[in-house]
Amino acid sequence: MLDQTARDAIFFQARTHHAFLDRPVSDAQLREIYEMTRMAPTSGNTQPLRIVFVRSKEAKEKLVSTLNEPNVAQTREAPVTAILAQDLHFYERMHRILPEHPALAERFRADTTGAVRGPVCLRNSSIQSGYFMIAVRAAGLDYGAMTGYDAEKLDALFFPDGRWKSNYLCNIGYGDRARLTERHVRLEFDETCSIL
Ligand SMILES: Cc1cc2nc3c(=O)[nH]c(=O)nc-3n(C[C@H](O)[C@H](O)[C@H](O)COP(=O)(O)O)c2cc1C
Repeated sequence: MLDQTARDAIFFQARTHHAFLDRPVSDAQLREIYEMTRMAPTSGNTQPLRIVFVRSKEAKEKLVSTLNEPNVAQTREAPVTAILAQDLHFYERMHRILPEHPALAERFRADTTGAVRGPVCLRNSSIQSGYFMIAVRAAGLDYGAMTGYDAEKLDALFFPDGRWKSNYLCNIGYGDRARLTERHVRLEFDETCSIL
């Protein structure tokens, strides 16, 4: 069981950040985040999440060219921006990650329209992406997720072969708490849950 300090760091005190301190994030920290992220459960152990960490000035500006205006300054300020993407051809690795069920990989391979693969890919990569955000906080960093961008343009720039598709973006760094605004209300248990 996590103590209150850990719960605060991951849930109660942690915030979505739109402003970041001028403090770098190392490759070792990014690897540490992935080390935790990869333990997320996925159906059939499919693991369709792919992450591109954008840090160089050149790559950052390429990314910025796809953003909606309100996301530009925060993304330039963040030391790293992660593109959380899904690999539509995730089944190609299944012989290694789920060797005992070769028929499942074949079912996905035969699904040329993506009607079966698509929802599996989106659901599981989104679960992994949720774990990713928790992992960022567990590593002592902050994030700010963003869907305010031109997905078609970003995918064409970063994934021109069409095999990966972005889901959302996530700025990573040390958030500037002095520039936080009031937190929005969260729904109550009785409004959203039932126990049968
Ligand atoms: C998938 C997703 C997309 C989001 N897109 C944007 C965005 O494009 N721009 C932005 O400034 N904030 C964006 N947000 C931030 C949310 O508004 C913020 O996480 C939410 O208000 C909760 O804030 P809190 O964690 O500080 O309570 C996004 C959050 C998520 C999870």
